[in-house]
Amino acid sequence: MNGSITFTMIKPSAVESNFTGPILKMINESGFRIKAIKLTQLSKERAEAFYGVHAGKPFFDGLVEFMSSGPIVAVILEKENAILDFRTLIGSTNPADAAPGTIRKIFAKSFTENAIHGSDSDENALIEGSFFFSEMEQF
Ligand code: CMP
Repeated sequence: MNGSITFTMIKPSAVESNFTGPILKMINESGFRIKAIKLTQLSKERAEAFYGVHAGKPFFDGLVEFMSSGPIVAVILEKENAILDFRTLIGSTNPADAAPGTIRKIFAKSFTENAIHGSDSDENALIEGSFFFSEMEQF
């Protein structure tokens, strides 16, 4: 897990709150380069597919509802040790547990509305990035 590419999504509540700029500034200032970026909206079906691994879990329906509720910003990022460094930058999945100064601590509203996604492995970065960017294999 030490590749140079990761995938992130700024989630609907953070986009709606106009946090896209401040979040991207933090990402850039932490040494990540933007390789591809897109403002788009997931349909309910696409959100179900993206989060298929969580199907059946108690939070799944709320997660799909939320993730399809408004525009998201999908981004491919490059930096040495991208996966681990990005997960450190965004903080714990549950913002209640996130360290001070992390993106989720600053911008998240709740466990589901946690502002931002970060891939958890090189393999998932490729799968998730390919979900939004046809050129993913080239990065
Ligand atoms: P993320 O890791 O980006 O993608 C899956 C999301 O599911 C996760 O962020 C959280 O927003 C959400 N999630 C995971 N576990 C829970 C939980 N126990 N309760 C509510 N939401 C959750």
